[in-house]
Amino acid sequence: MIKIVEHEEKVEKFYTTGSKVNLADFDSTELRIDNEGFLSFGYWENKTDRYLDATKRLLKFVIENSEVKDADRILNVACGFGPESFAYFEHFKPNELIGIDIAKVHTDYANLKAKQLGVADKVKFVHGDAVALDFPDRSFSHILGIEGPAHFNTREKFFKSAGRVLKQGGELLLTDVILGEKFKAWNPLHQTVLRVGAKGWVVPMANGVKEAAYKKQLEDAGFEIVFLKKIGDKVFPGYSRSFDSEVIQKHTKCMGFMTSMGFTFIGKLLGWLYKKGFIEYVYVKARKK
Ligand SMILES: C[S@@+](CC[C@H](N)C(=O)[O-])C[C@H]1O[C@@H](n2cnc3c(N)ncnc32)[C@H](O)[C@@H]1O
Repeated sequence: MIKIVEHEEKVEKFYTTGSKVNLADFDSTELRIDNEGFLSFGYWENKTDRYLDATKRLLKFVIENSEVKDADRILNVACGFGPESFAYFEHFKPNELIGIDIAKVHTDYANLKAKQLGVADKVKFVHGDAVALDFPDRSFSHILGIEGPAHFNTREKFFKSAGRVLKQGGELLLTDVILGEKFKAWNPLHQTVLRVGAKGWVVPMANGVKEAAYKKQLEDAGFEIVFLKKIGDKVFPGYSRSFDSEVIQKHTKCMGFMTSMGFTFIGKLLGWLYKKGFIEYVYVKARKK
């Protein structure tokens, strides 16, 4: 019998495989993990930037441009291993922060880290799907997340769930990957490369929308757009370049040759898709009406 593997299972498998790189030299006393657990594409400014510099800068960019005031209860979607969650907690000082991620390996680590940092009473992580949020209506003041929504099945459904659990006037802040204006849906070649990229990075095709449709989905879910900043030029070229021989060697050691090649291919393909104008990286802020 053929086993039907759900999309969420595939995403979890993808990130559990990737986590072998972060957890390669895992030290259970210090809870030290590679690249401090950051998993984003990063914000690249200098040719000499290393991955950790870029991912920290992306988080700084998100926080400094967020214009968040009075965060009471934050939901951090697609929190990964939690480095951004602890930074939001420290910066925005909410009464509570809950991180949610589809990969158990991430939330298990993040809960241990919260204990180690002495914040476990206020910062908690749950293993789950951000699309099917199991929280009461209007129970969060803010929802934040770096780079998860493209994976969600679907992002549009997530916007509706987010709209439900946010209070009136609550804010949704996300970084995300959308289609670029040069992508032509009628062009079979464009469609094919998009399918390859979406399959490799485990993204439902339904999430392949351009800026106008993205904004409309948010508005239909009861949000008004505060800003949408396009920062692909700071993200994709640098991330694509970061797959140098040193990084590939390290990935190969942790994940095996074929998987490492797969990750490298996706990294390079994302850089190429951006260069062609087929994809864009956005930082979005929307407010629940
Ligand atoms: C590119 S990583 C970013 C992680 C983290 N935000 C960071 O910047 O380090 C994308 C994350 O989305 C999570 N994710 C994907 N689909 C999800 C879903 N449906 N619900 C919750 N998390 C999901 C993955 O497990 C992964 O941790």
